[in-house]
Amino acid sequence: MRILFELSGEHPKLPEAELAGVLDGERLRWKLHGRDRLRSTIILDVASKDASFAGRLALTKRAVGIFSIGKDLKAIAAAVYPKIRNARSFRVRCESNTVERELGALLHERGLRVKLENPEETVEVVRFRKGWAAGLGIPLDRDFEPRHPLKRPFFHPTSLRPKTARLLLNLARVKKGDRMLDPFCGAGGILIEAGLMGLKMTGRDIDDRMIEGCGKNLAHFGVNAVLECRDALSAGKGRFDAVVTDPPYGKSSTTLGLGLQDLYERFLLSASAKIRKGGRLVMMLPGEYRLRHPDFTLLGKHRIRVHKSLTRVLWVLEKD
Ligand SMILES: C[S@@+](CC[C@H](N)C(=O)[O-])C[C@H]1O[C@@H](n2cnc3c(N)ncnc32)[C@H](O)[C@@H]1O
Repeated sequence: MRILFELSGEHPKLPEAELAGVLDGERLRWKLHGRDRLRSTIILDVASKDASFAGRLALTKRAVGIFSIGKDLKAIAAAVYPKIRNARSFRVRCESNTVERELGALLHERGLRVKLENPEETVEVVRFRKGWAAGLGIPLDRDFEPRHPLKRPFFHPTSLRPKTARLLLNLARVKKGDRMLDPFCGAGGILIEAGLMGLKMTGRDIDDRMIEGCGKNLAHFGVNAVLECRDALSAGKGRFDAVVTDPPYGKSSTTLGLGLQDLYERFLLSASAKIRKGGRLVMMLPGEYRLRHPDFTLLGKHRIRVHKSLTRVLWVLEKD
């Protein structure tokens, strides 16, 4: 199906990298139909009739299954009508009132009933280059608020926001049933999202109070993980499809006396044995570090400005 994605403008590259990560993770074939850079929209042809994968996206504001693209509203009405002909009511939603009114009238002329409040179908019309793209909205799960760190039974200031955790997981190209490890799991910010996505998770942390708190948080959201109090630099059992993590920044969380450069590099060396060939390691560091990664290919490094004195750097690596 043809799908329009309205990407979040909060980063120049990450929304598209995330989208590719989700499609590749779900093993869906896709190709680019077109993009409108001015409006941060992209249209893809995805080899699937099921668009539920889009629900996972953290940096996409809107997704619409497209039936028609063009300037001629009569042609758009002709393409949209068969898709909603059985609906008891509909409305058109567009940034242009004129399009809403004219397309609404054209569909009404064909016998469909307009209802502005709670219609059965809402036809979404999005400006795309010099024309319009029209179709039906695809539900996205963007209600992150209930999982905000402050709303969990165990709070720790280092814990990631759910939106960021979801982004990291999507960049790791994982899908339901995959095995993932967070070796610095802390309060479980990444594990909660991973659990809700249906991954099989292992979380480790060197601090048993964090493991205990993490367990409370996971139980609160009804997700399960194998939790172990263990040093991320130690061998540990198991080989995973992905390692997704946010190692300590050395401020509120312990590093057991190791310098950050040293910790991250030793972690990268030890992580190699924990990931299957072709699996991804996605990690977020508190700034620029030059790290050796002999067993991994670096696929991307993304800088995320948090505030004036903190820019995080998100690394995406693939095991050779
Ligand atoms: C930034 S926090 C992780 C936060 C977590 N991603 C979340 O969203 O809740 C880093 C964690 O790494 C743990 N840690 C520090 N050194 C470690 C080590 N060598 N092995 C395992 N865990 C370690 C700390 O106890 C801390 O809980």
